[in-house]
Amino acid sequence: MERTYLMVKPDGVQRGLIGDIVARFERKGLQLVGAKLMQVSQEQAKRHYAEHEGKDFYDRLLAFITSGPVFAMVWRGDDAVTAARQLIGKTNGLEAAPGTIRGDYAIHTNFNLIHGSDSRESAEREIGIFFDPSELADYEKAV
Ligand code: CMP
Repeated sequence: MERTYLMVKPDGVQRGLIGDIVARFERKGLQLVGAKLMQVSQEQAKRHYAEHEGKDFYDRLLAFITSGPVFAMVWRGDDAVTAARQLIGKTNGLEAAPGTIRGDYAIHTNFNLIHGSDSRESAEREIGIFFDPSELADYEKAV
C-alpha cells in the first residue's frame, strides 16, 4: 500500500476549496489517514522545497507556502502517488486538463492550489516533514 502527501496551499484554503478537493480523493477511492490545518514554518518550507533551491522562483515559493494556513494530508491506496497526481493535473493551471483540480480552478503556476508528491520516496520524505507518526491513523477500509 502506497502513501502520498497532499497539501492544499494557502490559495486553496482562502478560496474555500478544501471540501471540494478532499471529496475528489475520497471519490477516487483513496483512504485519508491524516489531515490538519497548519501554518508551514520557514524550516519546513525549506526542507519541502529543497530540490528547487537556486531556481528563480524559489524565494517566491517559500514566501507563498508560508503566507497563510495550508491543509496538510496523507492519503493511502494502491498507486496513491500516481492516482493523486492524475486528479491534481499539470503544474500550470492553464495546461491542466479540465476535470482535474488545477484544470478546474487554477490559471497560475505559482498559485496552483495543491501540492502532490511526485514519487513514493518524495511522499515518505514529505510526510516526515509535516506529520508525526502519532498523527496518522491506521484503519481498515471497508471497500
Ligand atoms: P508544487 O507541486 O508545489 O512544486 C513546486 C512548485 O513550484 C510548483 O508546485 C509550483 O507552484 C511552483 N513553481 C513556480 N514556478 C515554477 C516553474 N517555473 N516550474 C515549476 N514549478 C514552479
